[in-house]
Amino acid sequence: MELFDLKDKVALVTGGNSGIGLAYAKGLVKAGAKVAIWGRNTEKNALAKKELENLGGDVMTLSADLTKAAAAREAFQQTIAHFGKVDICFANAGGAGPQGQRLHQINEDDWNSIIDLNLNSVVNTYKPVIAHLLEREAPGKLIVTSSIAALMGTGFSSGYATTKAAVLGLTRSLAVELGKKGIQVNAILPGYIETEMSLNAPEVFREATLRRSCSGTNGTLEQMEGIAVFLASNSSDFMTGQSIVLDGGHTIYPL
Ligand SMILES: NC(=O)c1ccc[n+]([C@@H]2O[C@H](COP(=O)([O-])OP(=O)(O)OC[C@H]3O[C@@H](n4cnc5c(N)ncnc54)[C@H](OP(=O)(O)O)[C@@H]3O)[C@@H](O)[C@H]2O)c1
Repeated sequence: MELFDLKDKVALVTGGNSGIGLAYAKGLVKAGAKVAIWGRNTEKNALAKKELENLGGDVMTLSADLTKAAAAREAFQQTIAHFGKVDICFANAGGAGPQGQRLHQINEDDWNSIIDLNLNSVVNTYKPVIAHLLEREAPGKLIVTSSIAALMGTGFSSGYATTKAAVLGLTRSLAVELGKKGIQVNAILPGYIETEMSLNAPEVFREATLRRSCSGTNGTLEQMEGIAVFLASNSSDFMTGQSIVLDGGHTIYPL
């Protein structure tokens, strides 16, 4: 077995047009995978495609609002029409949701919107992929971007931690359901990585994350590439249902 080789594999990365998703996609392209990236913004999609093609990637992009199940199904059909199959799926699209309020102050629409964005979008993405893998009787890899917020909570942003914890339950459940079909299901829990989303967080939050980091640094996007390749490749075939923390030691805070 060639370690970490993704030649002949097709990977789908939601939210692959920026930040952590684009970093995953770069790692996957470098390891030889063909990559489909889904995000809503067509300009960001086009820029990401160019960046990935400059690395030698065979890349397609699709614009879809993944909070809508029908949009995810349609995007999946178009991906299959283009690449013929999907072997690897990173359900990474997501966002911060309502911030600065206690739970009782968050209105119903805002609460439902973060559930749609960070939980239902994952379900909407995974469902057609699972049906496709089972129909092909093919092995596969499902990976979700959770967060260390799932372990630590996020006061005044409870929807975020709630949804990021929910996908860990989904990960373990799917690992059980799909293990005997040769499909591994895992979650990545990044600490603070500097992206469009995290740069919108209050400065005080960024300072606190730096204080807690054993290395004294926050994470970089380049540091997200390798874990994506490992979890997408045969090298991780005996790993499933796991929640993998990449946070420079933030969650073990030693001082
Ligand atoms: N940055 C961190 O420190 C950190 C830490 C832990 C976990 N995370 C998680 O990592 C993931 C990626 O976030 P990021 O930090 O890389 O932020 P980002 O650069 O803002 O990326 C978010 C991605 O999600 C896509 N997206 C958002 N809503 C969508 C929707 N309704 N339908 C389809 N795509 C949608 C965006 O594309 P469009 O704008 O084109 O829609 C974008 O590609 C998120 O799940 C986030 O919770 C981030």
